[in-house]
Amino acid sequence: MSLQSPVLEIDPLLDDRKTRIVVCCGSGGVGKTTTAAALGVRAAERGRTAVVLTIDPARRLAQSMGLTELDNTPREVAGIDRSAGGSLHAMMLDMKRTFDEVVVQHSDPERARAILENPFYQSLSAGFAGTQEYMAMEKLGQLRAQDAWDLIIVDTPPSRSALDFLDAPKRLGSFLDGRFIKLLMAPAKVGGRAGVKFLNIGMSMMTGTLSKVMGAGLLRDVQTFVAAMDTMFGGFRTRADATYRLLQAPGTAFLVVAAPERDALREAAYFVERLADEDMPLAGLVLNRVHGSGAAQLTAERALAAAEALEDYVAERAAESEAEGTDGSTVDGAGAHSGAEGEENLAGGGIVDQRAGHDDSRQDLPAGTDDSERLAAGLLRLHAERMQVVARERRTRDRFVSVHPEVPMVDVTALPGDVHDLEGLRAIGQELAEGQPAAA
Ligand SMILES: Nc1ncnc2c1ncn2[C@@H]1O[C@H](COP(=O)(O)OP(=O)(O)O)[C@@H](O)[C@H]1O
Ligand SMILES: [Mg+2]
Repeated sequence: MSLQSPVLEIDPLLDDRKTRIVVCCGSGGVGKTTTAAALGVRAAERGRTAVVLTIDPARRLAQSMGLTELDNTPREVAGIDRSAGGSLHAMMLDMKRTFDEVVVQHSDPERARAILENPFYQSLSAGFAGTQEYMAMEKLGQLRAQDAWDLIIVDTPPSRSALDFLDAPKRLGSFLDGRFIKLLMAPAKVGGRAGVKFLNIGMSMMTGTLSKVMGAGLLRDVQTFVAAMDTMFGGFRTRADATYRLLQAPGTAFLVVAAPERDALREAAYFVERLADEDMPLAGLVLNRVHGSGAAQLTAERALAAAEALEDYVAERAAESEAEGTDGSTVDGAGAHSGAEGEENLAGGGIVDQRAGHDDSRQDLPAGTDDSERLAAGLLRLHAERMQVVARERRTRDRFVSVHPEVPMVDVTALPGDVHDLEGLRAIGQELAEGQPAAA
């Protein structure tokens, strides 16, 4: 029997007017963007004035939400049912532009221009590790301050690790606090071996990033940059801290998205622990792309046994007809029909009975049955594989639940294709709301 965790109830969360920010996090490729978009659609259609901040939506999904350009402003999504009084806006984060906005907002025009034109800034703002995470937070802060939406759903960057989202702003913050930059500015003042070593590591890291852009003028540009940024360090840090606090506020709910795979769930477990350490409110875990089966009553073992029995039977028949000097194994055009028959049998679980009845019915089988038996055996093997996947996913989930039995969970099944339109998002939203572990 599988371990049970509390059910994550999505609709009450979305309907609660006190819920102001939902953050979808998790490791790469697990379905964060899809979940965020699906929650946005569902919340809007249930009456919330919602905005979804996506980071890297797949192209077709972006198109279906009207996100055809990176212009860093939320646009209303067409095709949303507004009868409950809600609406949905969506935007894709343009990291560079967000960074530029921050610079412009927090310095006078002359200084802003000096910074924006500085090649060091251009390289830093586009490529420095953590800027994307930092800018996502920055944008979240902006959207919240704008106060045009009563629910903000935030997708998080495609980091390798879910923890990056929480760590990067701090890392960037301490970078901008200037210890490192001060070392660069005043190398002569740094005494002792430790200082020199740090400087060397720092320099080689910097030159790695910057040499492409700058070449020889490196240090001069860095110094100009630092001079221009100097008064802004405090501002960056303060804002990062403010957004951090926003994430700890009671109106914020974190949803950790994970695939039912060992690495993703291990990452999810770390993240759950980390959120608790940081006093950030976890709503629960979305287990995405879970496999189920409509014929779960037929176990992998029985399906395999049935497949083997069918294959033996076919082999026996072949041997018999060879002995009789006839070839009963090929009849034109039987394939397609037999396929459908096989599926029906499988869905009803009836194939097992058929196997039980072999001995009696053997003489009555029409010519061409071997094909359908083979197909049925193939389908049974597929079914057995599917059931093994289901069992493996269940074990992986149980491992998570045994460590974190308190975390509410909801399953979303793996849909047959990509999720790339509002219909698909609604289907995901429906599954999120049904709150039932996938049938298995
Ligand atoms: N439940 C699901 N069923 C089928 N495909 C899914 C499901 N969830 C996500 N996908 C697909 O998986 C891919 C990755 O999803 P995405 O949301 O972009 O992940 P992430 O943002 O975590 O990197 C996309 O192509 C998406 O359409
Ligand atoms: Mg994504």
